[in-house]
Amino acid sequence: MSPNDALREARYFTTDVLSQWKPCGCSRRFPPGGDKGETLVLSSKERPGLGRNLFQRLGNPNIRKGRKYLFLKGATERTNFLVLAMSSLWGLGTITGAMCLGNMLSVIAEMVQGKRVLVTGSSTGIGEQIAYEFARMGAHLLLTARREKQLKEVAQKCLELGASSARHVVSDMNNLTSAQNVIEEARNKLRGLDYLVLNHVGGSGRFGPFQGDMAAVTSSMTVNFLSYVQLTVSAMTMLQESQGSIIVISSLSGRIGAPFTLSYSAAKFALEGFYSSLRRELRLREISLSVTVAVLGYIDTDNALKIIGDKITMQANPKEECAREVVRAGVLRHREVIYPYWSLKPLLLLKEWMPGLMERMLDKFLILENIL
Ligand SMILES: NC(=O)c1ccc[n+]([C@@H]2O[C@H](COP(=O)([O-])OP(=O)(O)OC[C@H]3O[C@@H](n4cnc5c(N)ncnc54)[C@H](OP(=O)(O)O)[C@@H]3O)[C@@H](O)[C@H]2O)c1
Repeated sequence: MSPNDALREARYFTTDVLSQWKPCGCSRRFPPGGDKGETLVLSSKERPGLGRNLFQRLGNPNIRKGRKYLFLKGATERTNFLVLAMSSLWGLGTITGAMCLGNMLSVIAEMVQGKRVLVTGSSTGIGEQIAYEFARMGAHLLLTARREKQLKEVAQKCLELGASSARHVVSDMNNLTSAQNVIEEARNKLRGLDYLVLNHVGGSGRFGPFQGDMAAVTSSMTVNFLSYVQLTVSAMTMLQESQGSIIVISSLSGRIGAPFTLSYSAAKFALEGFYSSLRRELRLREISLSVTVAVLGYIDTDNALKIIGDKITMQANPKEECAREVVRAGVLRHREVIYPYWSLKPLLLLKEWMPGLMERMLDKFLILENIL
């Protein structure tokens, strides 16, 4: 069995393991012959008792707390050794690490091939790029937004990129019944769903001082929060059947209060609360459905550049790379992805320790004379 085959065989490979697994020693430490009929991906962090017991039963006492262990189904000792050696080299960040990355990408592509994916807000921007990422890996796509002409063009390009199929459904997420209908369409046309990508954004186009406009707050909460929940509720049965994934596009404005875009920020905070709670609840109920939240910084989509391009001094990040990171995290069932990581993560850490300083740092990016 090749390492690739072995990886595909691992029963919990699609949990949050791949990027975090750490080698637990060379193959000689494995019990001779291993428990070859079994697949064990042991997370001593999440299920310490289970991990230790199983390893002890297999005669391996080398369990260390906080580490994740991977044991491959039917893999020979040589295969295990190869895979573990690869992951060790990855840790060193060498050229071999890059090869491992290439290997991982091809495994991800194989995992997505033929999967059924719904991407909301996919007529343009990040959603469009996410659709292309899934298309390159041979997924069946269902695209949705309000503008049919754009959706048709994106669907056509998805087919050219290698999508197994690409359909579209026109829908306005200001209307929750319309959101329900999109899921019905997925049920009828795709016969199920593996990935629900919640990405659309609307109802909060203005970037300026809050004028107390309750209609704008209501509209933003409906489009940017309630419709996400409605889509999730309606798709839940299909996603449970497929042991699928929900990918939720959030923002730094969902973690740190954002002046001049209060309604949008409120909706993103609501998303973070709902989906982080849902993730915990699913885990406690032992339902195998992953929830990945994408925390994004400033991305160079046409609309973002138009709305805030002259109001902040920050550099926008490429939407193509953003979409790649989001899709990879979603497929690997990570709990969250932060993009761009090295710009945003320090801010998020600073928020806990020195919120005032962090806010003043962010304020410096605003061009107030263009906003007020
Ligand atoms: N770009 C950034 O800097 C940035 C930063 C942080 C987070 N994000 C998040 O990333 C996601 C995508 O952002 P983006 O910049 O790619 O947005 P975008 O370019 O403005 O695209 C928004 C998408 O949502 C659709 N949409 C808008 N209103 C809708 C409605 N009422 N019903 C259904 N679909 C609707 C739009 O299509 P139609 O107009 O055809 O309906 C479009 O496909 C959003 O969740 C956003 O909050 C973006």
